[in-house]
Order: sequence, then C-alpha cells, then structure tokens
Amino acid sequence: MTMFTTLLAVGAASLASATPLQSRQVVPNYPPNEVSTGFRLVANVTDPATDLTPSVDGWEFQGIHTGAGLNDAVLASGPGRIFYHNGTAAEIRFAEGSILADGGTPLFPYGIYVQGEDEVDPTYPAEHDVAINVGSGTIGVSLLAFPDPYFYLTAHAQGTFVACPRTVPYYNAEFTVVRFAYDTFNPDTALFDRNVPEGCTAITLIPECDTLPELPEGSISSHEFAANSKCYEDVSAINWPEYGP
Ligand SMILES: *[C@@H]1O[C@H](CO)[C@@H](O)[C@H](O)[C@H]1NC(C)=O
Ligand SMILES: *[C@@H]1O[C@H](CO)[C@@H](O)[C@H](O)[C@H]1NC(C)=O
Repeated sequence: MTMFTTLLAVGAASLASATPLQSRQVVPNYPPNEVSTGFRLVANVTDPATDLTPSVDGWEFQGIHTGAGLNDAVLASGPGRIFYHNGTAAEIRFAEGSILADGGTPLFPYGIYVQGEDEVDPTYPAEHDVAINVGSGTIGVSLLAFPDPYFYLTAHAQGTFVACPRTVPYYNAEFTVVRFAYDTFNPDTALFDRNVPEGCTAITLIPECDTLPELPEGSISSHEFAANSKCYEDVSAINWPEYGP
C-alpha cells in the first residue's frame, strides 16, 4: 500500500511538472481497459513502415508443436492461445510471476519462455527464441504493471519482441515466428539501440480480454494464482494516435 501511494504521488508530481503552464492543458488519455483473468496476446506493429507482407498487425500469439511439451511461438491470423498471469499479488507487482496457458491431456501449465541474451536459436544463431513450453515459463515475462498506462507483454529486459518469417526445422516450412531482440548498448551515444533482425518487424504483444476456461477434474494445472489482468476489449480497434503521451 505504501509503495502504491508513493508511486501515485510521484506520478502526479511528474505529470504536473510536465504540463506546460502557458499552453493548452494536456490531459493524459489512454485506451480504456477491462479486467480479466484470461487474455489472448495480439500483435501491434510498432513501426508500420517495417511491417511484414501480409501485415501481421492484429495477428495473435500462439504455439506450433515442435516436440513433446514444446511449442515454438508464432503469430497467426486466427484466434491465439488464452493465457493468464500467474503469481501471488506481490509476485505480480514486482514482475516475479510468469505467463501461463493450459495444454495437453490432462491439462498442464505451459509457460512463455524467452531465451536469455546468452542463449540463441540453434537454426538462427543471431536470434533469441520465444517458446510456449510445458513448465512455469521465464520468470519476469509478465504484463507491464502499474504505473505504466499501457498494458503489454514485457520480457523485463531492454529490447523488443519481433515477428520474423523463418523456417521452422520441425516442419521444414516457413512461419511468422516470434523472437526477442535485445537492444545493444552503443558506447558512442551511451544509449541502447534497437537491434531488430533483418526481415523482422518490432511488435508489442497486447492482452485482449478473454474467458479463461475452467479446468476439468483431474487437471495438473491450477488457477489458484491466476491474477486479474488489465486487458483491452478489442486491441485492433484501438486508434493509437488518439492516445498519449
Ligand atoms: C501500437 O502501434 C502503433 C503504431 O502502429 C504505435 O503508435 C503505438 O504506440 C503502439 N502501441 C503500443 C502499446 O505498443
Ligand atoms: C503459479 O504461482 C504460484 C504462486 O507463486 C506458484 O506456487 C506456482 O508454482 C506457479 N505455477 C507455475 C506453473 O509456475
């Protein structure tokens, strides 16, 4: 509670000082959200000039089977997997939870795994893979928490999710795979530079509210720690230029 109050106070103070006194009043305005335990993750192409062909804006995050309990993360135009943010209230607040889906028979938890900066895709060794595999997922892969006014998936690292047309060896066919591109530190400017691989486009993965199906008797998964998440009713309908800062 103390932290919440402090953040609120800090937020209010910096908003106040950011408002130019003489000009028209700038009222921060954000897309309205709802709250749900279940959500799908919808891709928002953040730099439309680099979008793929066909466009992947509005495509959804899901897995393609690549082995027992293993799924490569891809974008597809149909409805994606339903996820939930798992963790205690404190874990969610401090980004120590993870993002889960239920899969298999009986239902097991599957987590979103993001390769670390020192791990690479075996076929594309310059790229860091994202997968939906059986298990807890990468701790810290989570939805941005208060006080951020937007809600989307973060890997808790400097960088961005990207979508890339790539051959998946298991099928020897091309899919729009999801990777994580770590920013690179530029010693000349002392800033981090985006590092989007050739042929890929940067995306944010935005939660669209959905109903988390109840677990049938005998499931290994549990929804005891499925948190309430802020999500949007219809991500593709959000008119971004209307909102800011
Ligand atoms: C979504 O993409 C648009 C560009 O098409 C961008 O202006 C906006 O900031 C993005 N929103 C988020 C939350 O990434
Ligand atoms: C979900 O979160 C709870 C609370 O931290 C934890 O005990 C449980 O192991 C998590 N589930 C998975 C599959 O990681």
